[in-house]
Amino acid sequence: MASRNGAAQVLVASNRGPVSYAVGEDGSLHAKRGGGGLVSGLSAIGSDADALWVCSALSDGDREAVRRGVGEDGVRMLDIPADVHADAYNGVANSVLWFVHHMLYQTPLEPAFDAEFRRQWTSYETYNRAFAEALAEEAAPGAAVVVQDYHLTLVPGMLRELRPDLRIGHFSHTPWAPPEYFRMLPDDVAGQVLRGMLGADRLGFLTQRWADAFVACAERFAGGLGGTRIGVHGLGADADFLRQRSHEKDVEERMAALREEIGEGRRTIVRVDRTELSKNIVRGLLAYRTLLDSHAEWRERVVHVAFAYPSRQDLAVYRDYTAEVQRLADEINEQYGTPGWTPVVLNLKDDFARSLAAYRLADVALVNPIRDGMNLVAKEVPVVSDAGCALVLSREAGAYEELGEDAITVNPYDVTGTAAALHEALSMRPEERAERAKRLAAAATALPPAQWFLDQLDALRAER
Ligand code: G6P
Repeated sequence: MASRNGAAQVLVASNRGPVSYAVGEDGSLHAKRGGGGLVSGLSAIGSDADALWVCSALSDGDREAVRRGVGEDGVRMLDIPADVHADAYNGVANSVLWFVHHMLYQTPLEPAFDAEFRRQWTSYETYNRAFAEALAEEAAPGAAVVVQDYHLTLVPGMLRELRPDLRIGHFSHTPWAPPEYFRMLPDDVAGQVLRGMLGADRLGFLTQRWADAFVACAERFAGGLGGTRIGVHGLGADADFLRQRSHEKDVEERMAALREEIGEGRRTIVRVDRTELSKNIVRGLLAYRTLLDSHAEWRERVVHVAFAYPSRQDLAVYRDYTAEVQRLADEINEQYGTPGWTPVVLNLKDDFARSLAAYRLADVALVNPIRDGMNLVAKEVPVVSDAGCALVLSREAGAYEELGEDAITVNPYDVTGTAAALHEALSMRPEERAERAKRLAAAATALPPAQWFLDQLDALRAER
């Protein structure tokens, strides 16, 4: 795959890269470019810049692409052995670090850091080392490297040893756990994670709250920050892209289909998530059921459009959670549905155009995560919705710090409170809703992805 061999001036490292491959029936490889803030952020540095994105080969198609030497310019995929990757990604990153930072453990039973975890941890080290070595090989003298997320916490420290000349940044897209929760990790593992991160010149977080939590952990368990600086960069929605993309033909077609499903003259409560434990989809459905129960006037007059796209399906807890979402949606439909009205329109098949169609039709957006680094859906819906939607927002989402004033905020554990918030949102006068949505959209797009990335790069280059 494309390599800059010691010539890249700007490098990004992340587990999931900007492109993935599938093998067609005839054996040919098909590339699919991902969306998301990081992809559009990186495109800000231009295609002719000496930039390189180092990522993992995730699918069989990706591995085949590496083997055949097929690839996009500016992207290098690492073919880490599948079992090592699975241990690092599923075992450590998504079952342990993700759970710690989102405080998802049901602690009477989990976690239990046993011999299997220790084996997985060794794989996590190996996987991080593969990234550090590839970055060391590709970076030009004094180049800037921005490492992304909890998959790669050890990379900054490892890279610092290999290449002391580099400017190294790390950015967390997740929350950071408070010390009392973080200390659940075995002491040596916690120490390695913190020291790995502190190998960076700069650490970036999405909100002050997550930055403060990291600093508190570093002070308590690693003797402080040393020379590492902390920056807060709140990634925003990409307004230009969203407004243009949401008016394309495929989105209009899906709007027509959705309108049919919803039915004439009904309000819509929209949510779009990965089917992810932290997103709190089940309590969202319980709140909707409570709304139908306690405010009978909304029966037949509202539809909950819930798109919950498959995520991390190698993990049983995610599969079980998906099944529970499906079960509860069916139950609500059975309990309240009438021949002309389906109370919950649930869809589990990923379709970006249909998500945008739902955004455009939204009267209310429901974003109620247990904890979330930022949550871009909260920022995207007010930008895209045709009539200006009301936003019901968890106070535990990073986006709350920027959008809290004009959203109706909820404690994500409070099902009754969330039902009351849905009622308030549905009852809001249209003028007030539109005004609030305008202010929400302005706040949501204050730091578009390109600027978000360039700000970090500038700050990193200004260090030392
Ligand atoms: C979160 C993480 C990202 C990750 C994404 C999707 O936003 O911060 O690093 O890429 O979830 O999860 P996945 O496991 O599918 O890459």
